[in-house]
Amino acid sequence: MKIAVIGTGYVGITTAASLGELGHQVIGVDIDREKISKLSKGILPIYEPGVEELIQEQLRDKTLFFTTDISEAVKESEIIFIAVGTPSLPNGQPNMTYVEDVAKELGKSIGEYKIVVNKSTVPVGTADRVKELIISEIRQRKLQVAVDVISNPEFLQEGKALQDARKPDRIVIGSDSEVAKEKMCKLYEKVDAPLFITTPRNAEMIKYASNAFLATKISYINEIAKLCDLLRVDVTDVAKGMGLDKRIGPHFLQAGVGYGGSCFPKDVAALYSMGKNAKMEMSILRQVQEVNNSQPEWLLEQMSNKLKGFHGKRVALLGLAFKPDTDDIREAPSLKLIPLLLQAGAFVIAYDPIVHSKIKDRFPDIILAKTAYQAIKNTDAILLCTEWKEFLYLDWLKVKEEMKGQHVFDARNVLPQKELESYGFLYWGVGRNSSAN
Ligand code: UGA
Repeated sequence: MKIAVIGTGYVGITTAASLGELGHQVIGVDIDREKISKLSKGILPIYEPGVEELIQEQLRDKTLFFTTDISEAVKESEIIFIAVGTPSLPNGQPNMTYVEDVAKELGKSIGEYKIVVNKSTVPVGTADRVKELIISEIRQRKLQVAVDVISNPEFLQEGKALQDARKPDRIVIGSDSEVAKEKMCKLYEKVDAPLFITTPRNAEMIKYASNAFLATKISYINEIAKLCDLLRVDVTDVAKGMGLDKRIGPHFLQAGVGYGGSCFPKDVAALYSMGKNAKMEMSILRQVQEVNNSQPEWLLEQMSNKLKGFHGKRVALLGLAFKPDTDDIREAPSLKLIPLLLQAGAFVIAYDPIVHSKIKDRFPDIILAKTAYQAIKNTDAILLCTEWKEFLYLDWLKVKEEMKGQHVFDARNVLPQKELESYGFLYWGVGRNSSAN
């Protein structure tokens, strides 16, 4: 099938690559000329394992093209995906400008029946709104063309996007049109996953309710972890024991420094404000956000207690991305931790395998190390903020020799506590009944 994907951000690029892998002809569209010129040469603006290779292969096979010409892409395609950003406005509501602009542009180009698919995370009612905008533009051109706008939310996780695209837990299709439903089933026929077909409004809500539920699980376990910390209980064992119950499940129960990224913080805020618009206070979501926002401060308070203050202390911050295997720092916990550490008088020596200049531009006062070992040299404490694999396999004896102090703060509960303690480190994990307590 011939597909256009509008927007070449994280969702757009991974959608284009995975649809291409299913054998479809894909045209990626963006208004950013520089981005399109780089993408056409196989240079990606994002880091996502495996995607660059896939895009390069599809460019070579000429099954994938990139362009800034939306009307050309529309003419060539049966199905048009909208995959532009819906970032948060200061009031928590998503900024719908980009989606609406694309809808208007589509209305200016569509000359025959098309299926328009919303991949972006959008409030309930957006499919109807997008259709209205498209049809109104088409009418201004004195044309009568049928268009179906459907919702097909994205459930890919950064860092594992290809894995998720190849074997998703489900594909949700929200459509009121039988023709569009059929086409969408055909589009995904090679994917081994259950298709859940529903209305566009239901599909739009499924996306928000899913992300907010996962965020709720994380805030819940983070709150349990704080209590574990006071009661000398290990939250990692508690989560394991809970997760064995099939009704609870083991996923998203990893206590840590709080959730970040471009999705959870934005989507929980958006769902909360959707409630407010409907004159309903979603009190659970308010608490989920509060617990998450206060987690970095609580963590630094614990650190400060153990280190007897931060003034003049050298802290190695390992990991800056919001999670491993991505270069994304949007809403990353590191962005909250760095200013708090600096304000408290600490020297911050940071290291991340992929994130470099982005962070140095924001925080010129930190030192950016080239390796983890360089970062930890002569430091009083290590704060592990992102669980990159390389941190799990550090040579801890070497680390011990290079460090000045003994404190290791594991904000992701991934380090081998017993091993570290046996080397004489004072280990602290989030709610882990640690030796440093
Ligand atoms: C999330 C959802 O998991 C995807 O299904 C969805 O498609 C995506 O948002 C989106 O809406 O586009 P993503 O933001 O890539 O995916 O990352 P996650 O793996 O979900 O992690 C989000 C945050 O939660 C990270 O900061 C992570 O470190 C944190 N987290 C995750 C925890 O603190 N504990 C956990 O147990 C799991």
